[in-house]
Parts: sequence; structure tokens; C-alpha cells
Amino acid sequence: MMITDDPFLDAAKEVLRSNRLNHFTKPAPRLYPYQWNWDTGFISMAYALYDESKVYEEYQSLFAGQWSNGMLPQIIFHEESDAYFPGPDFWMTDRSKLVSDVNSSGITMPAVHGFVMLYLLTKTTNLDNTSRFLKYIIPHIIESHAFMYEYRDPAAEALPCIIHPWESGTDNSPLYDKSLSLINIDKDTLPEYIRKDLKYRNAASHRPDNTDYDRFVYLVDLFRTRDYNQKHIINDCPFVIQDPLFIALLNYSNEALIEICQFLNMDYSIIDEWYTATNEAMYSKLFGSRDRFAAYDFCNSEFIEGITSSSMMPALTVPLSTEETKAMFGSFENDFIRKAHPSCPTTMPSHSNYEANRYWRGPIWLNLNYLLYKVFNLHGKKEMTDRLIHDSIDLVRGNGFFEYFNASKGQNDIACGSPDFSWTAAMYIVFKNELQGNN
Ligand code: GLC
Repeated sequence: MMITDDPFLDAAKEVLRSNRLNHFTKPAPRLYPYQWNWDTGFISMAYALYDESKVYEEYQSLFAGQWSNGMLPQIIFHEESDAYFPGPDFWMTDRSKLVSDVNSSGITMPAVHGFVMLYLLTKTTNLDNTSRFLKYIIPHIIESHAFMYEYRDPAAEALPCIIHPWESGTDNSPLYDKSLSLINIDKDTLPEYIRKDLKYRNAASHRPDNTDYDRFVYLVDLFRTRDYNQKHIINDCPFVIQDPLFIALLNYSNEALIEICQFLNMDYSIIDEWYTATNEAMYSKLFGSRDRFAAYDFCNSEFIEGITSSSMMPALTVPLSTEETKAMFGSFENDFIRKAHPSCPTTMPSHSNYEANRYWRGPIWLNLNYLLYKVFNLHGKKEMTDRLIHDSIDLVRGNGFFEYFNASKGQNDIACGSPDFSWTAAMYIVFKNELQGNN
């Protein structure tokens, strides 16, 4: 049980309560009115600490949208809302025969659910119920991983690709700038659309710009004109990227699934194969510089320059030598974290495309702080893990449960994006729990 002597813990639970609709929690009160894939994972980690039945409900709702080819969609449109673009009318996923009877978008998101389920298993206070739930959900999670290896791994390298920046979760990262800029858009044939995200405070300087948005829309149009046939999409798509965060989380979840299957006495031979192959491939292909993991642009056959917080994530599972970890952590600690105040910016401040306020181009996000915390923790970097926990807690206490925070200024008055953001509240609850465990 958690000790609730902290009013911020109660406030965090209240954020989750107020964002909860029928059987799922939306990411934010107004900006994101539906169920988002990886948000559900981070949110469920908090529920695992104080109301496990909500985890079961969240996952039943999310997987109700799973396609018959195994794809777990990025957004599940359980309820009608005209507050968000692109909604179901634009996606037109009913052009595919593979959809479930719950409306969804037509792309996927980082595979976080394996490690979230392991977190649930570690924290559960009702092993019978949790084991029953895991026996139901784990086969579906395995199917969603099989989708990645079957349809998103065009060169059979065990390095599944993203086909849209929205699949990465870090939508507007500078990692994708060059690849997006090389996409030729014919404005005359681009479908007309009206953005709905620009009506919020500071939106023009914080949200992705219109040039990027045209490309986001162009890609969705390409998918729907191919009726969401994955083979045609991967052949024709001008944006196919091996993204270190996306692949790292998939393999971190593979690792967790192996542990869960061992516990439940389920067969995990295929997951074992994926796990080993993906670890080896991340090391041999993406770790060429020996001090960071690079992204690879499949369409333009080139590695992508520039360090972001994703560049370190494969260290969640890839075994590295002492020299390699020293080189990797050294560059992060010096350039990325120590100079920035507070930790941790999502793009290195010295990066030529760093922007302190704009979406995924610099600001701090608490879900990535949690993942970085895990990386440092796994490698015994106590000073950095402490720093990430305390900065994350202080950011919330000084500013509220905002979507993200400007990393270039001091600790206060740096709130960005939506207030009352669900995963920020959830990560606060999770970090507080870690702090208790560490004391
Ligand atoms: C934005 C973020 C994405 C998140 C979604 C809902 O699109 O980039 O990572 O899942 O909002 O919170």
C-alpha cells in the first residue's frame, strides 16, 4: 500500500479520476478525447499501485480495438467527439477488412504493454486475479509484437520500423526532420483538413508546424488509399524509419513477456527468438558510433544524425561493455543532463533543431524521464536515477500535472501543453512509489 501523506498524490489520483471515461482514461481533459495506446500503458502503471481492477478495464478497452493482423492501434475511438483531428472520418479504417468493431486509427505505437504487465505482476496485491488477467491479455500482446516482426521489418533484420512519426510517440522529434522534408507534397492533391490542436494556449509556438502537419496528413492519406494493406504501405511509404526508442521498448517488452510466460508456464520460444535477434541487430546496426544508438532512414538508406533521449534507450536490453557504457553515459551526463536544468530534455540543447517549447524538440516529458530512469537504474548510475526521480517530482510540485516542461529555464513557470495530463499524474505516482522502494 502507498502512504498518502502527500497532497500531490491525492491530486494525481484526482487527475486520473477526472480524465476517466467509461472504461478507459483519456490522456487529457480536452486536447485528447480518446484512448491512446502507449498512454494507457503509463497510466495503468499508476493504477497497478492502487486500483488493479482499473488496469484490467483499461486493457480490455484498448485491446477491443486490436486488428485481426495483430496491430494494436495508436488511438481507439470509443466515443464520438469532434474535438480532435484526425478523427475516424478522416482515417476511414473501415476500408480494411482487418479492423475490429471498435473504431480506431490505422497505425500503431510503441509496444509498452509487456513491461507494463510485468510491472503489474511485480506490484500486485491479488496474484490470483492478476494471473487470470495476464493469461487472457498476454496472448494478445504477443500478437501485437508478431505484427511488428511480420509487417514492419522489411529487410528481416529484427528491427521493426515506424511508417509515421505518430507511431513513434515522439511525433515531432528532430530525428524525423530530414526524412519528412524529403517527402514531396503536391498541395493540390493533399486532402483538405482543419487542425483542431491550434486553438489552445501557445499552440502556434509549441505544436508541430503546418509544413510537418501536411506531411502527417499526406501519410495518412497514403495509408487509406492502400486500404491499410501493410505490404503495399511498406512498399510505397516514403517514411520508413528504424527508431531506437520504438525498437528498444518493443524489446524491453519482449524481455518482460519472457519473464511473465515463465511465471505462467506459457510457451515463449518465439519471443526468445525475437528478443535475441533484436538485441543483436540493435547493437550491430544502430550502435555503430559506439556511444549512442542511431535511427536509420530506410527509404533514404542513411543513419540519422543528432542525439535525443531515444539514443540511449536500447541500453534497456542490449548488453554493453564497460567502455561502451562509459562512452554512452559520459556524453549524456555531460552534454545532456548536467548542463540542462532540470532533467531531462528530450533533444540535446546543442542540437541545431532544439526548441525549448516545441513538442518533442527539447521539452521534458515525464514518461521519458521514467524510461531514462530505468536505463540509468539498470546500469547502476545512482546519481542520475536520484536526479531523474527528484527532478520529476519537483517539476510537478512546482508547476502542476502538465503535458511537458521547458528544460531551458529554472524549475518554475515552465509548464507546457495541456494541464491535468494523465501520464504526468501517473508518473508522479510511480516515481513516488520508487522513492519509497529506494529508501
Ligand atoms: C501526442 C504525443 C503522443 C501521445 C498523445 C496522447 O500525440 O506525441 O506521444 O500519445 O499525444 O497523449
